[in-house]
Amino acid sequence: MNELKFIAERLLTQINNASTLQELETIRVYSLGKQGEISLLMKTLGSLTPEERKERGAQLNAVRDQITASLEAKKEILEASQLQERLEKEKIDITLPTRPQALGTIHPISQAMFEMISIFKNMGFSVAEGPDIEDDFYNFTALNIPQEHPARQDHDTFYLPPLEAGKERRVLRTHTSPVQIRTMLNKKPPLRIIAPGRVYRSDYDATHTPTFHQIEGLYVAEGVHMGHLKACLQTFCEKMFNQPQLPLRFRPGYFPFTEPSAEIDIACYRKDGQLIVGPGEDWLEILGCGMIHPKVLENCGIDSTKYQGFAFGMGIERVAMLKYGIPDLRSFYEADLRWLRHYGFSPFEALMEGASE
Ligand code: PHE
Repeated sequence: MNELKFIAERLLTQINNASTLQELETIRVYSLGKQGEISLLMKTLGSLTPEERKERGAQLNAVRDQITASLEAKKEILEASQLQERLEKEKIDITLPTRPQALGTIHPISQAMFEMISIFKNMGFSVAEGPDIEDDFYNFTALNIPQEHPARQDHDTFYLPPLEAGKERRVLRTHTSPVQIRTMLNKKPPLRIIAPGRVYRSDYDATHTPTFHQIEGLYVAEGVHMGHLKACLQTFCEKMFNQPQLPLRFRPGYFPFTEPSAEIDIACYRKDGQLIVGPGEDWLEILGCGMIHPKVLENCGIDSTKYQGFAFGMGIERVAMLKYGIPDLRSFYEADLRWLRHYGFSPFEALMEGASE
């Protein structure tokens, strides 16, 4: 009996220590297989007396059952852990990695617009918007450009039929200045807004496209004068072109909605056929501006004896061409992927700039 107990304990320990199914199977064959240790002991029962056989048989059966049960239990444990191991080993990452060659880019017009907005925001301006399809009133009349005014011809306007018969015709806005009117009609001074957006003129050659972008600026408060306008635009140009003390030239200009009016040129020069911003022998016009005409303030219900304001408007494409060294205006709209990849900006960099605001 002691010997049987000893064998049983040894086998149970082996089963317990088995670390693979294969090892367990070897133990099973070795103990319960045809030539197995327990099976061979069973065979010796025949040579015993009936009483001895009964007792010994019962003991052997108990040991065999114990080992069988133990083998079964261990098998289940090993199978489960083997499955787990396989699941971990055969795991497939089904998420698609990004493909750098297919990454989109930020269009230079959007990039220039973001940069301009962020500079003006730091000076306290907020962004205002207006519709692309305007009423004649906002685009012209309220800006002191009455029906038969010659300035209307300068704008090469796209006209649209009125919404209802007998009503005023509509226009695709020819500049962002109607947003000035909408802002002044809806809010009380002090006002400090910029209005970036798309504008339309029926004109197409190397330096004109029928759709382009402008950014409008408007500041209305008490005691505003030309000095404020100059400082604001000088600061903007220096920041935008990354050049402290960038020379600017204020030339007298004419706009029906400002008085006095000016056009601003920035200093530039040519090098290897490229136009570069900075002190040099050339000047390039980049924006129109002036003190808001008292008539325009009055058209918007603002007391022009109490409030003054300045306004400016500039072409975004023109600034983008100068800043990023883009030679041809028309290429902005050709949607040529090679051009977009070359002149476009990483969306991640653009986001980072916005985040550092
Ligand atoms: N709206 C003018 C243009 O499109 C620019 C401008 C805006 C001039 C505001 C003066 C003041 O040319």
